[in-house]
Amino acid sequence: MVLLPEHKELTQAARAARAHAYAPYSNYAVGAAVRTEDGRIFTGCNIENASYGLSICAERVAVFNAIAAGARQIVAVAVCTPDGAAPCGACRQVLAEFAPDLNACTVWVVRPDEVVARYTLAELLPQAFRLDR
Ligand code: THU
Repeated sequence: MVLLPEHKELTQAARAARAHAYAPYSNYAVGAAVRTEDGRIFTGCNIENASYGLSICAERVAVFNAIAAGARQIVAVAVCTPDGAAPCGACRQVLAEFAPDLNACTVWVVRPDEVVARYTLAELLPQAFRLDR
């Protein structure tokens, strides 16, 4: 798959963020990056806990970083997993909260060494739950 420079930048940010993963229990390091409507990139990694249920996925850390910095709209996402797995259901719902158009929000799924797939958030979360705002 040939990527435009902006896509390459986002996928590379997800790969770089993976280096910071704290995953001593699963040994499954994940990195994520989101692009906000003003072009900024925010990253996250999974952060696990000895009380396993307190662990958080890389995608949600990236989204929360963006929101905490004042952003409110996410236009693209990249996630880097060891095996090319796509974002979990909980993260899809959190991403949808801040994606103004699920059909326009691209989700890149990559591994450290290759791009695995390109989806829209609408494809990953059909019939998304949203309150009328
Ligand atoms: N994980 C993510 O960071 N993102 C996902 O979309 C799925 C799973 C993390 C959670 C946990 O730290 C590890 O991967 C194994 O489930």
